[in-house]
Amino acid sequence: MSKALEGVRVVDMTHVQAGPVCTQMMAWLGAEVIKIELPGRGDITRSQLRDIPDVDSLYFTMLNSNKRSLTLDIKQPRGQEILWELLRRSDVLVENFGPGALDRQGITWERLQERAPRVVYASIKGFGPGDYEHAKAYETIAQAMGGSMSTTGFEDGPPTSTGAQIGDSGSAIHLLAAILAALLQRQQTGCGQRVQVAMQHSVLNLARVKIRDHQRLERGPLAEYPNREFGDAVPRSGNASGGGQPGWALRCHPGGPNDFIYVIIQPHVWEPLLRQIERTDLLGVAAYQTPEARLSHLDEVFGVIEEWTMRHTKWQVFESFNAIDVPCGPVLDTKDLVADSSLRQSGMIVEVEHPERGRYLTVGCPLRLSDSPVEIGRSPLLGEHSAQVLEEVLGLSGSEVELMRTQGVI
Ligand code: COA
Repeated sequence: MSKALEGVRVVDMTHVQAGPVCTQMMAWLGAEVIKIELPGRGDITRSQLRDIPDVDSLYFTMLNSNKRSLTLDIKQPRGQEILWELLRRSDVLVENFGPGALDRQGITWERLQERAPRVVYASIKGFGPGDYEHAKAYETIAQAMGGSMSTTGFEDGPPTSTGAQIGDSGSAIHLLAAILAALLQRQQTGCGQRVQVAMQHSVLNLARVKIRDHQRLERGPLAEYPNREFGDAVPRSGNASGGGQPGWALRCHPGGPNDFIYVIIQPHVWEPLLRQIERTDLLGVAAYQTPEARLSHLDEVFGVIEEWTMRHTKWQVFESFNAIDVPCGPVLDTKDLVADSSLRQSGMIVEVEHPERGRYLTVGCPLRLSDSPVEIGRSPLLGEHSAQVLEEVLGLSGSEVELMRTQGVI
């Protein structure tokens, strides 16, 4: 079966997390992704957080599957020539170096338009145009400056970062959407375009509801927040749902660090819920009867439910509440996740064979297309496909490739 992005060639000059996640998705969707790496070292993450000496780290292998690796020193004249030849035969260039890094090597949007006008030139930077545009950024910096950190955590604790990598992987997904849109537009215009995503902007987009609440706060306290006092900015609200229906993480038996279930109270399931937790005594009690009445004392309301959940495991509660259509979800720790049979069945937790590390687990592709099946492959070794790419794509001879190898160009 064909793949959605078959025939799309990507020059992948990404590193660390934000860029590689985007191009990995493109590879899963069928694009031919050629990852260009510094000879001798490669993407810095190959050697970061290593769990096995001298073997590509999981950081690298889990973010670079289904790609080919071409080592190329773009600071050498021959390396630059090869890069331009490759770009002329490609559809997309993706990079996430620090601001100005590619410009300093003469790889600019203007020159790309002259030499390879069909190429979509996609970049991730920390920030958009303005005061911060020259600053480098990592995940947590984007979380700090995009509205996530100040609104995450508990009122009496410090600003907190999330486990989900919304700055890096979140930006990657935004970039993917923009690249695909640019490729679609190219079908009409015949031209590539400049595509840019700032990590701060991506996080702000994901923290959109907090800007909603900021404006609501100007008109008075936020009733659905657990906080009692409000200043002039949206506070951290612990595990409040952030939506129109109240929710909270409730403790379960036997009380381990992740023995919790997140429960949301929709108005129409309140009565069945009271029956399920054997609190029919509260049926018809004014303080509990309507969503508005419950809003003013949500801690007590959830306390009533928690008295029951604490006597059951999170999985028992999940089953019991789902039976009456109460939206809820047990807090799954990483051990739960890698063992979860439904995640294995759906291909979201996958085992991959690697020539140096053996078998490792990776997270699969959350995008499901009925006509573009995803097969999760392994990540390439450093420079594994250098000769193959140069010979196949650029038509270089074996001796030319060898010469470049001895000169340290590849
Ligand atoms: N051949 C020769 N040189 C290469 C090369 C190659 N194949 N690939 C990269 N390089 C060089 C670049 O030209 C650049 O050199 P320069 O500093 O002399 O201009 C250098 O390697 C990379 O620079 P930079 O990207 O600034 O690396 P860094 O390690 O100092 O910074 C980041 C890392 C992530 C902070 C920075 O890349 C950044 O801010 N990126 C944008 C935001 C982003 O994506 N952040 C999240 C990453 S998960």
